[in-house]
Amino acid sequence: MPAIAYLNGRFLPLEEANVSIEDRGFQFGDGVYEVIRGYGGALFRLEDHLSRLERSAQAISISVPFSQIEWEALIREGVKRSGYGECKVYIQLTRGTAPREHRFPCSASPTVVMTFREIPEMDASVRQRGVHAVTLPDLRWGLCSIKSLNLLPNVLARQEANEAGAFEAILVKNGFVTEGTSSNVCLVMDGTIVTPSLNDHLLAGVTRAVVLELARQRGLPVEERNVREEELLQADELFLIGTTIDVVPVSRLNDELVGDGMPGKVTQAMRDGLRRCVESATESH
Ligand code: PDD
Repeated sequence: MPAIAYLNGRFLPLEEANVSIEDRGFQFGDGVYEVIRGYGGALFRLEDHLSRLERSAQAISISVPFSQIEWEALIREGVKRSGYGECKVYIQLTRGTAPREHRFPCSASPTVVMTFREIPEMDASVRQRGVHAVTLPDLRWGLCSIKSLNLLPNVLARQEANEAGAFEAILVKNGFVTEGTSSNVCLVMDGTIVTPSLNDHLLAGVTRAVVLELARQRGLPVEERNVREEELLQADELFLIGTTIDVVPVSRLNDELVGDGMPGKVTQAMRDGLRRCVESATESH
């Protein structure tokens, strides 16, 4: 089955979906996006993603062309048309098409793009062994809480990490951990789940919120606070979380083992908990 796209009011085959070279998303990265995961055709935490899309758009003064209900209907329609059960929905909203001028155009209307693609299951052995991550300087702007299209520093850091044989780069700003290039970061220290507190330097991940909620429900202590870079290697366990990866253990950071070099119990418990949460949220579908 081919992947499909939605572009400004129409569903069409992905390769036929084209936007203007004067789209401000293309020329300035002037837009915002979301990535939503479908499990068995059901969309996990769709409302949370749509609320964040709305917050991101508002933060850069892009008017959102649909209500939450309209978005939901369109996204469900796209997933249905794609026929994919395990899928990744990408939504991109830009300020629209206009002759290139930095200031906002007077008359452009937002460009809405969505893609619906199948997502392959991550190799189970990767999850069992854990992944290698590296720390790299966080070179991004001051408003990473907005899910903006400007991902160049993320792209460069991910490339550098991958070239070093690592799965992800954990970004560090002024000595403090912010997040991964496309994930949030959690440490386990003496049984406590520690994660950087939310501020302008990181994204309020939907998965992060779910994982912290699960931990609290299970009575596990949680600390949202500033995390110093050195603490990453003092942690007993380290894991990455995000929509497309759910929970992935980090077993090696730079050249050192994390804990005993094996994925830990808390990480596994959070992954199992997230799986069950996905199942119960999507079983009525
Ligand atoms: N990224 N931090 C960053 C910088 C991210 O790009 C992402 C997700 C996350 C995790 O957020 P969530 O749990 O809501 O997916 C944290 C998506 C998947 C992407 O850019 O592809």
